[in-house]
Amino acid sequence: MVKLRLFAKIFACGIFICSCGIYLSGISLVTQRRVSNRDHGVDVSSTAPPEKPQLCTHKQRIKGVESACKQHGELQWHNSSQVSISSFPNLLVDDKHQLLYCGFPKAASTSWLKHFVRASGKWEKGQMSIRGKGIERYGFKHLHSLPEKEARDRLQTYRKMVVVRHPLDRLVSAWRDKLVMKDSPYRKTIGKNIIRKFRGSYNEGDLASFDEFANFVAIGFSNQHWATFRSCKPCLVRCDYISRTETVEQDSGDIMAVLGLGDHLPAIHAHRSAGLHYMETDLWQFENVSRAIYDKLLGIYQADMDIFGYGFNFSQKTAYCSLQKFTGDDCC
Ligand SMILES: *[C@@H]1O[C@H](CO)[C@@H](O)[C@H](O)[C@H]1NC(C)=O
Ligand SMILES: *[C@@H]1O[C@H](CO)[C@@H](O)[C@H](O)[C@H]1NC(C)=O
Ligand SMILES: *[C@@H]1O[C@H](CO)[C@@H](O)[C@H](O)[C@H]1NC(C)=O
Repeated sequence: MVKLRLFAKIFACGIFICSCGIYLSGISLVTQRRVSNRDHGVDVSSTAPPEKPQLCTHKQRIKGVESACKQHGELQWHNSSQVSISSFPNLLVDDKHQLLYCGFPKAASTSWLKHFVRASGKWEKGQMSIRGKGIERYGFKHLHSLPEKEARDRLQTYRKMVVVRHPLDRLVSAWRDKLVMKDSPYRKTIGKNIIRKFRGSYNEGDLASFDEFANFVAIGFSNQHWATFRSCKPCLVRCDYISRTETVEQDSGDIMAVLGLGDHLPAIHAHRSAGLHYMETDLWQFENVSRAIYDKLLGIYQADMDIFGYGFNFSQKTAYCSLQKFTGDDCC
């Protein structure tokens, strides 16, 4: 298996000042690794420098989707014309570049939306409100908001890209950003619900632990921040590009070049680099998650993991990325 060095995506400008984001995040990752290693009684000083995963081409990744969808009995690329347009809640249309983008919160979506806005030539300094419907102010639309025929034509003819991330790492990230981060409004809503549910009562300042959160997700509480990637319908509609949050540095260059957005890359690169870093593969947050809960989580995320080439070793708590299981290609 190719060891995956996951990128930590930290939407941190409100909390970490952008200019020192790299520094602070670096520290937090090192700290996290130390805690983890101490927990497992491993010698901290032996930590090797991050190795880069061997990247798959988009073609290899698409082949991975195809074979995993086939094995799951879900491959229907040949009759995707029958798919309902309204079932694509988050497919963004870039008419200028004839591109459809399927992205998710907590999978580099903000970075990609900025790429699109800059490439549209409509970027204005200081205007950053691109989440949700904000993006529509720049002339982008969502596929499901178009008349049926226009939507279908675009679905047929435009190139399609999806951005994915290791589902379990994304879960950890959602927990950290939404339920641990000091200023997150989710702490007083979802966080409170979780604590009431599993501890009976909530006291001001209580934080939901990761295993409580995992339990909550496992019993069926969904949210866009940990939704599965299946709303992109990868088994129904063939994607042309599959980008990973973990490898966005390499992937973005590739897609930018292919789509002729290359001119804009350096500026965005500089901006975005504050948020993305290599991270250890170790998801130590899973240490108190029971096998039963983990199995339930797999019920939700196993298909996503298979389709996009992610895996998790539960006894080691290690997340990894490889297409080997479905295509034999040992790349990420
Ligand atoms: C797609 O086509 C197959 C046979 O070619 C058919 O069995 C299946 O029902 C079709 N799917 C949809 C969603 O209509
Ligand atoms: C697991 O449980 C132990 C004992 O309650 C606690 O000290 C530790 O912080 C927990 N680990 C995580 C990742 O929640
Ligand atoms: C998990 O990792 C351990 C140690 O590397 C290995 O022995 C075990 O076979 C792995 N389990 C799975 C399911 O891959």
